[in-house]
Amino acid sequence: MTRATAVAHPNIALAKYWGKRDRALNLPTNGSLSLTLAPFCTTTSVTWGVDTDLARLDGREASGDEARKMFALLDRMAPGRPGVAIETGNNFPTAAGLASSASGFAALVVAAEAAMGGTRSLEELAVFARMGSGSATRSLHGGWVLWPRGERPDGLDSHGVPVAPVDHWDVRMVVAVVKAGRKDTGSTDGMNHTQATSPFFDAWVATAEADLPEAKDAVLARDLERLGTLVERSAMRMHGSMLGADPWLCYFAPGSLLALAAVRALRREGIGAWATMDAGPNVKVLCAAGDAPRVADALREAAERVEVLAPGGPARVTARA
Ligand code: PMV
Repeated sequence: MTRATAVAHPNIALAKYWGKRDRALNLPTNGSLSLTLAPFCTTTSVTWGVDTDLARLDGREASGDEARKMFALLDRMAPGRPGVAIETGNNFPTAAGLASSASGFAALVVAAEAAMGGTRSLEELAVFARMGSGSATRSLHGGWVLWPRGERPDGLDSHGVPVAPVDHWDVRMVVAVVKAGRKDTGSTDGMNHTQATSPFFDAWVATAEADLPEAKDAVLARDLERLGTLVERSAMRMHGSMLGADPWLCYFAPGSLLALAAVRALRREGIGAWATMDAGPNVKVLCAAGDAPRVADALREAAERVEVLAPGGPARVTARA
């Protein structure tokens, strides 16, 4: 029996992923670019070689579907593996559009690899993490990360790749938690439904792919206005594609609109702040580190809670026994 523990941070996409060209392998219709964020993290311990598989999430036994996904991923990493016990927990709300699946699967593949005594690189592990949840492939790396669409049918060219390290640019992501708790429509169901029924989906993919080189350039040039403008546009176009689905899909809550209005008001006052949203109602706001206190104050009126996140490091092993 061997045991290892790993930590991984969530990431928020600045240029979004929404749509799958291969559902089984989680290959995306378009590339995306993200920022890995601390201090939010998932901590996962894996014990390799127990009698029966068992998974615990935030102190309770994981539900059937959650557990199945984790063990299916381990089956891919180590066909014919022994029984495995997984103990995982987040220091932030699970499944509320805060990318807990990204940090969760990233921490799982790193802890599992260490527990089984493997030596695969972060890039190799990023391919496995992608099969758990697409966005997880970006959480293997710290800082600014690109996940290209790739061309290969086996997906070996479609995984998180570092663009710039954690200390490249000291920005903040201010998270307005407008509604904690589990969302109604998971991201996979939401994107499959959009892809199958929205006449706006093809336009979304075309613009998302075209945005990527600019997003990367803006990150490398540390041009916040250029990046922020693209970030907000990418999120709104993604959500626009969902509104066009049949029946329509919308992750916004009333508090989301209040937070978005607060961000626009900040910009009118000359503060560089740009919003993004994922498959949940929370609003995340990109800004310069020095503006974060002011942005957080402005969001407090719309939100249950406000969290200020900073660039975070790569997924890593923290203990081995
Ligand atoms: O990989 P998933 O299933 O967590 O989907 C992520 C989808 C978005 O968060 C909406 C966008 C993104 O690129 O992270």
